[in-house]
Amino acid sequence: MVAAVLDALDDARCPADVELNLLPVVRHLDAVGSSGDAAIDAVLEEFLRLGPALPWHRTAGYLDVLSRDYLDNYGYVQLLGPNSIVEHATVRVGIGLWGPHLHYPAHKHEAEELYHVLAGEPSFSSGDGNARATRPGDAVHHAPWQEHSQDFGPTPTVLLYCWTGAVEPDAVLVSDR
Ligand SMILES: [Fe+2]
Repeated sequence: MVAAVLDALDDARCPADVELNLLPVVRHLDAVGSSGDAAIDAVLEEFLRLGPALPWHRTAGYLDVLSRDYLDNYGYVQLLGPNSIVEHATVRVGIGLWGPHLHYPAHKHEAEELYHVLAGEPSFSSGDGNARATRPGDAVHHAPWQEHSQDFGPTPTVLLYCWTGAVEPDAVLVSDR
């Protein structure tokens, strides 16, 4: 799946105008810590610089379901994909931000997913009940429809996510079944 993502990013060109849409979560940008890795920090620094001028989103299906605390402390910028800064039909790439100590309940999606941890210390749990502690530089893979949940650490978490396959449908909470 990584080859498909890299090909899509190679072909992507930023549009002349990028719509601004701020969410409460952007207040956490100032508290995002260094990853300790120069290559990751280069991506983070650019994201932190541009963050206040980007279109931030939350999953529409979560808005009436998840707590106000969760909704006020998370959001993501869709760089590539459907309804994104750069349109793409078969690949989604974006960067998400979560405030400290949030719990992202179990969810799933048809797309295959690869996360890269850019900042923070999130713990990932998958359908098998095992939790995996991660730090910047770690990658986490989810197969299509694999259930997963996250617990975010004491500092803001920044995750780069890549989806391939059925990228149009959003994630759904497992409790929505
Ligand atoms: Fe996911």
